[in-house]
Amino acid sequence: MVGTLLLLLSAATNTGHHVQAHGAGIIEDSGKFYMIGEDKTDGSAFQNINCYSSTNLVEWTFENALLTQQPSGDLGPNRVVERPKVIYNDATSTYVMYLHIDSSNYGEAKVGVATSDTVCGDYNYHGSYRPLGFESRDIGLFKDDDGSAYLLTEDRPNGLRIDALSDDYLNTTRNVYLWNRNIESPAIWKKNGYYFMFGSLLTGWDPNDNVYSYATSLSGPWSPWKEFADDGANTYSSQTSFILPWGDSAIYMGDRWKSSNLMRSTYVWLPLELTGTTDIWLKNRVNWVPDAKSRTWAPGPSESRYEGEAATLSGGAVKASCSGCSGSSVIGYLGGPDAGRLEWTGVRSDATTRTTLRIRHLNGDSKERRATVSVNGIEQQVAFLPSENMNTPASASVHCDLKAGSANTIVISTSDGSWAPDIDQVFVPLS
Ligand SMILES: *[C@@H]1O[C@H](CO)[C@@H](O)[C@H](O)[C@H]1NC(C)=O
Repeated sequence: MVGTLLLLLSAATNTGHHVQAHGAGIIEDSGKFYMIGEDKTDGSAFQNINCYSSTNLVEWTFENALLTQQPSGDLGPNRVVERPKVIYNDATSTYVMYLHIDSSNYGEAKVGVATSDTVCGDYNYHGSYRPLGFESRDIGLFKDDDGSAYLLTEDRPNGLRIDALSDDYLNTTRNVYLWNRNIESPAIWKKNGYYFMFGSLLTGWDPNDNVYSYATSLSGPWSPWKEFADDGANTYSSQTSFILPWGDSAIYMGDRWKSSNLMRSTYVWLPLELTGTTDIWLKNRVNWVPDAKSRTWAPGPSESRYEGEAATLSGGAVKASCSGCSGSSVIGYLGGPDAGRLEWTGVRSDATTRTTLRIRHLNGDSKERRATVSVNGIEQQVAFLPSENMNTPASASVHCDLKAGSANTIVISTSDGSWAPDIDQVFVPLS
């Protein structure tokens, strides 16, 4: 019962709001994955550090805001609080979070530390410091097999550093390695005795061709940096955030930042492919299927496409033109006072399965729109992020159960008079 994991995470299963966990890290705890990242609902400045849980990496449930905005101080208004990463300290039985802490002009360049007794409980903020006295902007954490842990930190005047943490993980004790090069968004993956450091070049919110380096010891020697995705594809328009070990390989987790409206930044998750001992490649994919039990993955199924203009419309729903949409048309006025409604019948699946639909939509607002998506009578609230403009569709994903055969029905509407997004088309997995 594994769905199709998509490039685009959509609504959390229990809130109907889009997942807000940017610059995230993942920690596994008692058989669950916890994703901890930044809430960018209202722009760049700090709002919350959010935690979501999942058992399959596909469907995520909102758990808690681990840190929330305070009246003043490091976590006050107009502060930079970015890239939270959490590791567990076995000796102190404590979850330790590191964050990039900064003033709005990025002049402070510090790390913050917070701790909790439970992975997604309220965290106790301990304050901030410059690790070993050096500037620190983007950060990552790495916990080695022997329990020793390391801060990965971008020091703008000097380069990318690996600093050892104290036994309680609350302080840095010594520098382990310094690359005399500015690499940000650092993340380490260890496999078969090799350490792989991933990171991005410095191009602000815009993506670039991210790179990796490897070594058999954290203190080096490290290999020259090289790209791991198609040259010129800017890591498929994303920036490294975290590398999640996954069986024989790992999953690349990146952020597709949208600097003009950060809340509509999305998540690019793709399987890394390791050939031999050190050759890593990331291939772009529309969809793929992770299996959390076996820690394997498979290419995604092929999909059928159903156009909005081929659906049955009722209420106020009307067809409109959209130059970037499939068939140059889109269905608008869904929801609203006239209860616009779109219904696809005869939707085919070759299997009775839980799966993921991809819906292409337009939303000209600066905030998400919501719609009720009903699949075979089972309704869920789905969030649709703003699109680039009213001629370039964005994507949302919906996890649902399909029956084998051609008797599936998908309905999009709203029940509260609010406006749904305009709908271009839906992609439905065949198997
Ligand atoms: C952290 O370590 C530095 C030296 O690496 C030391 O100067 C500082 O006092 C330590 N901080 C705490 C709170 O122990």
